Amino acid sequence: PAGAQQWVPLHPRSIDELKSSAAGCQGCELHQDATQTVFGRGAPNARIVFVGEQPGDIEDQRGLPFVGPAGRLLREAVDDAGIDPSELYITNAVKHFRFELRGSRRIHQTPGPVHIAACRPWLVAEFALLKPELVVILGATAGKALLGPSFRVTRARGQLMPWPASAQYPEDFPVGEIQALATIHPSAVLRADDREAAYQGLVDDLRIAAQAVA
Ligand code: URA
Ligand code: SF4
Repeated sequence: PAGAQQWVPLHPRSIDELKSSAAGCQGCELHQDATQTVFGRGAPNARIVFVGEQPGDIEDQRGLPFVGPAGRLLREAVDDAGIDPSELYITNAVKHFRFELRGSRRIHQTPGPVHIAACRPWLVAEFALLKPELVVILGATAGKALLGPSFRVTRARGQLMPWPASAQYPEDFPVGEIQALATIHPSAVLRADDREAAYQGLVDDLRIAAQAVA
């Protein structure tokens, strides 16, 4: 398997069409152990697209992104930031769950550069169809997928950035019309020592996103 590209339709007309094609993707090894492809979901005319890391255990079982604890926290933060949830589309940099079995427990493993690169054609295809005004990058994996391996959330978070021309995109990719904003991943809030402060930080960053599309 050399990446998802061969499973991406040449001229997709809808997110649903992409999602159906992605269900059969074998672009990297992750499809072997995971339950199913977890594609993005949300408004087809979304102005804001959120990009997370990969589906978690619950997402893998239900087939929908951000329906577990991180998703609950993210929805709360979106609400507190004053973003209209009907204007959102939510997806992940990697669309199969990567885990390690410990006994009967499936322990989350961060996807590697190989998985990020393999899965990137789906993300590019989603953007090409959605043409969002703003992309919210949730955490390091999404940042690396979209902005390159040297991306650091801690340095860039909370600032509106023009879509980087340095990133490599296909010719028909709508570079220049999109803004980007990075923030911490909601799972990092759940793990933080000072959860309240981490949550406030996430909400503050998302308020910037809300203002950007107001
Ligand atoms: N974390 C993510 O990055 N994505 C999900 O869909 C769920 C948890
Ligand atoms: Fe395809 Fe992405 Fe799943 Fe790998 S993780 S098999 S590239 S959908």
